[in-house]
Parts: sequence; C-alpha cells; structure tokens
Amino acid sequence: MSVRLVFLGPPGAGKGTQAQLIASQYGIDQLATGDILRRNVRQGTPLGMDAKRYMDAGELVPDDVIIGMVERELQDASGFIVDGFPRTLAQAEAFDALLERMATPLTAVLLFEVPRQQLVDRLTGRWICPADQSSYHLVFSPPRVTGECDLCGTPLVQRSDDTLETVTKRLSVYDEQTTPLIEYYRRKGNLIAIHAERAVSDVTAEILSALSQLAGTGA
Ligand code: AP5
Repeated sequence: MSVRLVFLGPPGAGKGTQAQLIASQYGIDQLATGDILRRNVRQGTPLGMDAKRYMDAGELVPDDVIIGMVERELQDASGFIVDGFPRTLAQAEAFDALLERMATPLTAVLLFEVPRQQLVDRLTGRWICPADQSSYHLVFSPPRVTGECDLCGTPLVQRSDDTLETVTKRLSVYDEQTTPLIEYYRRKGNLIAIHAERAVSDVTAEILSALSQLAGTGA
C-alpha cells in the first residue's frame, strides 16, 4: 500500500524515531525537514548557513525556504512520511497546493501526543552520532558503550538545539506557530491522535494498527 503521511507533534514527541521505522516497514520515503536542514549545515551550503542561526535559536526557518526545499524533495515520491513539516499554516496551505498538483492526497496526519515534561526529558537526554546521525537517549535507548555510537564507535554529541534553554524556546514556538495545524487537519477529517508517551514499540504498534484500519476503510 502506498501511504502519504504527515507526522505532526512537538519537538521530542518521537516523530523521527517512528518515521524511520514506519517508512522502512512500508518501503516509502521519509522526508524530515530538520534532517535536511542539518545536512545542509554540515555541508556548509548557503541554505545551511542561513538556516543555522534560526535553528540554534530554536526558531523556525522562514516558510519560503522550507516550502521550496520540500517541493524539490517530494517531486517524484508516491508514498512518503513527512516529519517536521508543515509547521505553520502557510506551510500547510502550500503543501495542500503541491499535493493537489501532484494529484496525491494525504492518507492521514498522525498527531503525536506526549506530556510536556517528558518532551523536555527526551530532548535534553538525546545524544547523536556525528558520523552516521544515529540517535540515542541516555536513559530510554542508551548506547551499548557509554558515550559511543553502537554502529561505528564515534563519540556521541548533543544536538546544539537540545540545551534546556533552546528546548524551552522550541516548545513555545510549537505552541504558538504549529498547534493551529491541529484544528486545520481536524477540520479536514484526516487527523489521528497517537499516544506517543508510551514505549517506542507500543507507539509503532499503535501507528501500524491505525494504518491498517484506514486501509480497511479504503482510505
Ligand atoms: P527538527 O529536527 O524537525 O526537530 P523537532 O521537530 O524539534 O523534532 P525532534 O527531532 O527534536 O524530535 P522528534 O519528534 O523527531 O523526536 P525523536 O524521534 O528525535 O527541527 C529542528 C529545527 O529545524 C527547528 O527548530 C527549526 O529551526 C528547523 N525546522 C525544521 N523543520 C522546519 C519547518 N518545517 N519549518 C521551519 N523550520 C523548520 O526523539 C527524541 C528523543 O526521544 C530521542 O532521544 C529518542 O531516542 C527519544 N524517544 C523517541 N521516542 C521515544 C519513546 N517512545 N519513549 C522514550 N524515548 C523516546
């Protein structure tokens, strides 16, 4: 089945973790705007240099930059999960226009719900491998050897926007600029809430069950 999904939710809700698992299960593309931006920062592209100051401050990168980037990435995709996009009403409207041009309606928007303190704990405890970008958590998914990537042994680092101060800013930006999308998609009738505070495998099971119910209804 070719599905087209948006993973919507606050920073730290587990969108990236689940997008990777579900995309590989369905054999579809995962498009994470944060990952694309970080790749551009690492490569020192003009886009990356421009985006870095917004990201380090916990603010959103301007809509026109993001919309152009997503349009380029999604050109040939038939099934996909977008994670971290859209994040503003302007992005959601531009995305709708793009999907209409591609004649590929969304299958569903999954809303990841997690209590606020748990989001802070997840983000401030996240460590990543700078070589292969794999992600760990000090408590919830620790590496086998403390401080080292399981896959390549590289010393792990924290993302520059995972400090408590920037996490607090990112959460307030989510409240102000992204939460209106919940009502936007609810009105369209394709929003599904996910209990994303549970263990990773339980969240995956809930998503797979929601998707198979949708398939059963022919959506
Ligand atoms: P982005 O990279 O998209 O960050 P985010 O939305 O803040 O999301 P995160 O990656 O922090 O969290 P996540 O929900 O993916 O959780 P994860 O699975 O990693 O964006 C970064 C920046 O880029 C933005 O601030 C902005 O500047 C810019 N940007 C990006 N998109 C943009 C857009 N569309 N418009 C404008 N600007 C944009 O998990 C987090 C941690 O929790 C991990 O350690 C993980 O191991 C752990 N974890 C995951 N699931 C569970 C679980 N079930 N139980 C316990 N721990 C868990």
